[in-house]
Amino acid sequence: MRVLVIGESGQLARALQRTMPAEHEVKFWGRAQLDMQCLAEISGKISNYQPDCVVNASAYTAVDKAETEGDQAYAVNCEAVKVLGEIAEQANFKLIHISTDFVFDGAKSRPYTPADECGPLGVYGETKLQGELSLLKACPAACIIRTGWLYGRAGKNFMTTMLGLMQQGTDLRVVCDQVGTPTSASHLAAIIWKAVGRHQSGTFHFSDAGVASWYDFACAIQSQGLSQGLLKSPVKIQPVFSEEYVTAARRPSYSVLDSRELERSLDWKPVHWQQALDGELIGLREIKQ
Ligand SMILES: NC(=O)c1ccc[n+]([C@@H]2O[C@H](COP(=O)([O-])OP(=O)(O)OC[C@H]3O[C@@H](n4cnc5c(N)ncnc54)[C@H](OP(=O)(O)O)[C@@H]3O)[C@@H](O)[C@H]2O)c1
Repeated sequence: MRVLVIGESGQLARALQRTMPAEHEVKFWGRAQLDMQCLAEISGKISNYQPDCVVNASAYTAVDKAETEGDQAYAVNCEAVKVLGEIAEQANFKLIHISTDFVFDGAKSRPYTPADECGPLGVYGETKLQGELSLLKACPAACIIRTGWLYGRAGKNFMTTMLGLMQQGTDLRVVCDQVGTPTSASHLAAIIWKAVGRHQSGTFHFSDAGVASWYDFACAIQSQGLSQGLLKSPVKIQPVFSEEYVTAARRPSYSVLDSRELERSLDWKPVHWQQALDGELIGLREIKQ
């Protein structure tokens, strides 16, 4: 299959690049090849490539900045996604789009299924939700995969940020009352490659297994970082409540995703997030050596 991945420099696209199967002909486009804010260019550029499948790994992901840059977030996360859907419908290629647990308000206390009601708390989540809705309207056969707490060995994310601060010896205050599931970018990439080869349409959830707070995640990064030799000595990690760590955007206090449907249909054996973290840290150590 001719596959086009949009969002070349992002952490997910880099994981897709690392894990891509040899049987596909894959192109990765960054902003230089396709700026998703230039709506008029999307159709022509994609049609020229004539893909069988497009994976949209691009997004406006600055959750706090989105509160004041709503237009920019809306353009990339909604308007561009709608255009992608229109072209996919017209040219009949498969479209896999990635969305987020931040479409939920976090009021539930059991894992969210794809059918659960959405209610984003911030601009980022709202633009992602509007993107999903516009996409399904334009292209009902599209495949949307919502994920949460994405991190990996490449790019700026919670794991690499925490490790950097720990390496500098900075004591940390980390939120303990927001709960979700850290998800390895390598695992999401593997699921996407499986979906590329199947007729998967509709809205799905994917995360690694288990549940954690950001505080739990930070503690695990430190203990595994120490045992893998990525850190020399521990820092103090203090749990704090969200009200003591104010951010521009509100975040769901609970956003665990129920991934069972996608796991079943793509024959994926769930991996606990702590084991997945071990894998990403090993990968990071290899990059650094
Ligand atoms: N990170 C998370 O915790 C998380 C959680 C749930 C869901 N997700 C979703 O997962 C997907 C992948 O996220 P990620 O963490 O890999 O994001 P990321 O590392 O922030 O990468 C986003 C990519 O989008 C590109 N992009 C942004 N605006 C663009 C534009 N106007 N034109 C072309 N490219 C543009 C960026 O390019 P530049 O480098 O040039 O800006 C970057 O390559 C996104 O849909 C995101 O919403 C992420």
